[in-house]
Amino acid sequence: MRPLTILGIETSCDETAAAVLRLDQAGPHVLSDIVLGQAAQHAPYKGVVPEIAARAHVEGLDGVIAAAMRDAGLGYGDLDGVAATAGPGLIGGVMVGLLAGKAIALAHDKPLIAVNHLEGHALSPRLSPGGATFPYLLLLVSGGHCQFISVLDVGVYRRLGSTLDDALGEAFDKLAKLLDLGFPGGPLVEKTAQNGDSKRFALPRPLLGRDGCDFSFAGLKTACAREVERLGPLTEQDKADLCASFQAAVCDIVEDRTRNAMRMFDGVWGAKGRLVAAGGVASNQAIRSLLKALGEERGYDFTAPPLRWCTDNAAMIALAGAERLRLGFSDDLSFPARPRWPLDDEAARLRPSHKPGRKGAKA
Ligand code: KG4
Ligand code: ZN
Repeated sequence: MRPLTILGIETSCDETAAAVLRLDQAGPHVLSDIVLGQAAQHAPYKGVVPEIAARAHVEGLDGVIAAAMRDAGLGYGDLDGVAATAGPGLIGGVMVGLLAGKAIALAHDKPLIAVNHLEGHALSPRLSPGGATFPYLLLLVSGGHCQFISVLDVGVYRRLGSTLDDALGEAFDKLAKLLDLGFPGGPLVEKTAQNGDSKRFALPRPLLGRDGCDFSFAGLKTACAREVERLGPLTEQDKADLCASFQAAVCDIVEDRTRNAMRMFDGVWGAKGRLVAAGGVASNQAIRSLLKALGEERGYDFTAPPLRWCTDNAAMIALAGAERLRLGFSDDLSFPARPRWPLDDEAARLRPSHKPGRKGAKA
């Protein structure tokens, strides 16, 4: 194959990111990878404020793209295409990045690839040298999404189950807010849990033991809120114990749901072998260890991207763009910004005729 060099742009939530990636016969090579976080702007509000996020992308994106091009040592003329997240996400931010991508594509006469953010996460485990080969069972757990997906090939995704209410990252963030731990919440809950007693609070494990691999976290969140109300003013130990008990409940739920998802994956695709976690919550060490142990027990290899590619980044968007361009797909400059965009739709757009029963594993 002809090597493809792609600029990726990511602005769907609270990271302003740009990266340059080259995809050749040997696989992807990340030539530059810049992420400008917005935690300081959102921290006073203890959560992401969409309007602030959109403005921060406007202020930061030009500099981030320039830095990515400079680090890669390339000019726009060296690119084969420009990939920008076109959704799903906070619409103001998505519009900023997509429009920047369109402008660069137009000015330099390059193809635009409008990337589904979830496809970026789904392919992110392939960014590392020797990364996940197809097919794999993906647990995608981020601030906005929580689902199991059969990833069979580029553009061939089947959702096996998803959350009925909150995303897992959202549940971590809400607990952090409840305990006034700071922002972003997930890593702070994980850190606080280290000094806690995971058995002190008997928290519910919604859907545990039920068929399928859907998730539900609303009941767990409410139970935490009730404990906080019952305890009154919280000591540091109360907070640590609550975080540890919450994380233990989450691990039990994830383990139970993953067991079922593995059965479904084996049953439909006959392609046992690889479990992959991606998205911000996949950087949680307790969850990573339980998935690794479960993989060993069930004969699955477990992989997760390095931490910087679990959370939002543009390298994964550039990779999704490069893979799609390699297949001959690019998008019109009129492509809309989509606040909602399920990954199954993406699969239908790219590979409408793919049917269950395929067993071949393409690298
Ligand atoms: O993938 P991501 O950066 O953005 C979305 O697409 O949502 O994920 C961010 C989410 C946040 O909810 C954050 O609290 C959570 O991932 N997160 C974690 C950890 N690191 C990030 N949750 C639990 N443990 C962590 N170590
Ligand atoms: Zn994300």
